[in-house]
Amino acid sequence: MSPATLSPGPVHQGVIAWYAEQARDLPWRRAECTPWGVLVSEIMLQQTPVARVLPRWQEWMRRWPTPYDAAGAPTAEILTVWDRLGYPRRALRLQQAAQAIVDQHGGEVPGTRDQLRALPGVGEYTAAAVACFAFDQPEVVVDTNIRRVHARVFSGHALAGKTYTAEQRRLAHDVFPDPEHDGGQFACAWNIAVMELGALVCTARAPQCDACPVAQLCAWRQAGSPAATEEQRTRGQAWAGTDRQVRGAVMAALRRGPAERSQLLGSLPLPTADLDQRHRCLDSLLADGLAEQRGDYVALPGVL
Ligand code: ADE
Repeated sequence: MSPATLSPGPVHQGVIAWYAEQARDLPWRRAECTPWGVLVSEIMLQQTPVARVLPRWQEWMRRWPTPYDAAGAPTAEILTVWDRLGYPRRALRLQQAAQAIVDQHGGEVPGTRDQLRALPGVGEYTAAAVACFAFDQPEVVVDTNIRRVHARVFSGHALAGKTYTAEQRRLAHDVFPDPEHDGGQFACAWNIAVMELGALVCTARAPQCDACPVAQLCAWRQAGSPAATEEQRTRGQAWAGTDRQVRGAVMAALRRGPAERSQLLGSLPLPTADLDQRHRCLDSLLADGLAEQRGDYVALPGVL
């Protein structure tokens, strides 16, 4: 089915009705969640599954319920609470975003996509997601789960592939509920409902088409569920032995407190990482501002 011949209306209705019945009750989706809570959740959920984010989000919101609280917190504490969510640069950027919100927006998370996009660590996806989920702005939100559902239901492909192409962007806009037509009533409901369908039912490896509210309308099913092409397949990122793993182990050691550099690097529980790799990873953390060194001692920022 080409986008030109699409009639997404029945798909909208089916997916939105399914969401009303089946959605997970997540704290950042509740009506009482603040825009700050939504922003924190979206940054944490980049590249990290919901189950790992939940306890960290709760701890974060308990400690720093407003941008003011996070902006003024010791950076070492921010990185410690981030714990093992991975990609700790996100934590630094989130604190910088809190500082920008305090300095430039009077402590209130701004409500438009462009203002959000200007905050540190906030990319195209996060800006649209926060504008939509926190401020009911009818913005087109596209993450990996949404791209996969679009690829299957509307384009008949098994998977969406690694990169977000211009064609996929056009498709996302073409199938977006027209705010001119329905007053924006379905826009945000559509975004969150497609995302949830992709996370729970229309998954990459084992889609549960029996549980899908739009299986009868799905172009991929109508085409006989063809297998993914090599191009569409995305390889899971290797972890063991990578610099990401070693950086994670160095961060875990730094969270326990300041230490002498060579002692800290020698103590990492990674028998296969040689000394060169350990030093390189610590140096990259120092360069990213995630660690500091004074003399022979290293620590989280602001501790020494
Ligand atoms: N609810 C709102 N945004 C979400 C996200 N990025 N992942 C999972 N659930 C969400």
